[in-house]
Amino acid sequence: MDTNFIHEDEIDFKAVMRTPKRQIGLFLILLIAAIEVAGWFYLNNMSVAYLKTTIDLPEPINTFERAVDTKAGTFVEGIDLKKYYQPNDSMINKGKELFLATCASCHNQNGDGNGQVGVALNPKPRNFISAEGWKFGRNFADIFKTLKQGSPGTAMASFDAIPLPDRMALIYFIQTFAKDFPKPTVDDFTALDGTYNLSKGGMSPNNVTLETAEQKIIDENKVNNEKLAALIKTSEDNCCAPPLKKVIRCKEKAYGALLNSNAWVGSTDNFVKFLQNTISTNGFKPTILTLSSQELTTYYNYFLTLKKS
Ligand code: HEC
Repeated sequence: MDTNFIHEDEIDFKAVMRTPKRQIGLFLILLIAAIEVAGWFYLNNMSVAYLKTTIDLPEPINTFERAVDTKAGTFVEGIDLKKYYQPNDSMINKGKELFLATCASCHNQNGDGNGQVGVALNPKPRNFISAEGWKFGRNFADIFKTLKQGSPGTAMASFDAIPLPDRMALIYFIQTFAKDFPKPTVDDFTALDGTYNLSKGGMSPNNVTLETAEQKIIDENKVNNEKLAALIKTSEDNCCAPPLKKVIRCKEKAYGALLNSNAWVGSTDNFVKFLQNTISTNGFKPTILTLSSQELTTYYNYFLTLKKS
């Protein structure tokens, strides 16, 4: 046997180093590996967790759940309000990025309120292109307040945990959907500052993920835990259940929500309304809202039988 034989799979580094062309190949491989490592570090060290949701973009329907990361309240620097008197390109781009990742599942990429989840909601998400139907107002300060408080009793949650500069950028971006949004005045900003201490800064609220908030609700309802476990078991043993994985994201949360509320009992309409108003926390997949009314009735009847069992 020829002792100089080199197996094809092995790289003869000496030969590589002697051949400039092959050196380039090796260099490229190392370069690609280095880029991957750098990218990995970048993604893992991004401090603002919701930015990661941009990676989920092909599936906008699930992204709004991850709007905020759990974080204890910290001192938040005030912002230099003057910088926000006028939007600039970088604000608009930032706002767009956030909008696509966090809002478009409901408000749609073009802002018309017909996002994948939005079409199934009642009340429907606001159509930003039109001046009609706004509840809290279209002024910069009005939208600021909406983002702070949400619209209770609807699918529109509070987005107060998004860092202030990003919220400002979001508002300016939303206002690009129509030409007739009122331009904020210096007085508007002074008033906002008076109400919310934007320039002084202060302690941020503790951010709690929806997940943690949901967990808290589950914990608070510990008394029901046995009942909940029994219900899940009954459901799993049931031969004739409609496909549950299709609509349930977290069993504990979904069955917990159904157990702890009677708001959905009575009709498919009540069931749908209940799902809509609690969709970001109830453990169901938002896609359930896109099902036909016949399918929804099937699920409603099934869950009702379970609840009564
Ligand atoms: C889960 C669906 C959903 C998501 C996600 C969502 N919204 Fe909404 N939004 C709604 C619904 C529903 C309404 C209508 C509420 C009402 O009629 O009371 C609404 C209304 C609004 C309004 C108008 C309030 C008014 O005065 O009428 C603004 C502004 C708004 N959303 C901004 C945002 C922004 C910015 C984001 C992303 C950070 C966002 N929304 C994410 C569902 C959503």
